Amino acid sequence: MHRPDWPLRTERLLLRPWEPNDLAAMHEIHRDPEMCRYLYNEPLSLHETRERLERKIATDAFRAEGDWMGCAVTLADTGELVADASLAWTSVEHRQGEIGFLVHPAHQGRGYATELSVPLLAFGFERVGLHRIVGRLEARNAGSARVLEKLGMRREAHLVENEWVKGEWQSELVYAMLAGEWSALR
Ligand SMILES: CC(C)(COP(=O)(O)OP(=O)(O)OC[C@H]1O[C@@H](n2cnc3c(N)ncnc32)[C@H](O)[C@@H]1OP(=O)(O)O)[C@@H](O)C(=O)NCCC(=O)NCCS
Repeated sequence: MHRPDWPLRTERLLLRPWEPNDLAAMHEIHRDPEMCRYLYNEPLSLHETRERLERKIATDAFRAEGDWMGCAVTLADTGELVADASLAWTSVEHRQGEIGFLVHPAHQGRGYATELSVPLLAFGFERVGLHRIVGRLEARNAGSARVLEKLGMRREAHLVENEWVKGEWQSELVYAMLAGEWSALR
């Protein structure tokens, strides 16, 4: 099992496991149609957010292949929830991971997605020993692509109309970083 020494800290942010009383703030992120525009799901009802939160509360560590480790991201100085972030352990044999993030609409454009990703990548590469971490996104999601580029990830693939999502063919970008690239950047 791999479990971070919670909380993870950055200059402005604190990443910690999800808690039951995060429901209202988490729902602010997941109920917004604009937030879901390039995701697989539609905006969540409060009931769906509660179900998702209940699942996420247990995901504070990597226990087995396929686990998504979720974290609530708060402002270090006020405790306000600003993002929902996660890291997946997609393959034990191939030492692969995947990163994901959603930043509350009122807090976008301040560098938080980039900042919160750094301790997650550090955990994946340095503690878990992952060899490669990817970010996958709908090809029109320019903000997300920019975040992965700012982190130093490489655009590896542009899959054209590879998925039928929300009544249309969508395309997917895959960004990746290797452990050696992470070490060189650090
Ligand atoms: C994508 C997302 C996480 C970015 O969060 P954020 O905290 O605003 O990200 P950052 O501030 O760290 O960086 C955003 C960068 O994208 C740029 N950007 C944002 N929207 C853009 C757009 N429509 N076109 C081009 N660039 C864009 C910003 O200018 C910034 O780059 P800069 O620092 O060079 O100016 C946020 O918009 C979000 O939660 N979107 C909805 C959920 C989602 O799509 N998540 C990703 C799933 S793959």
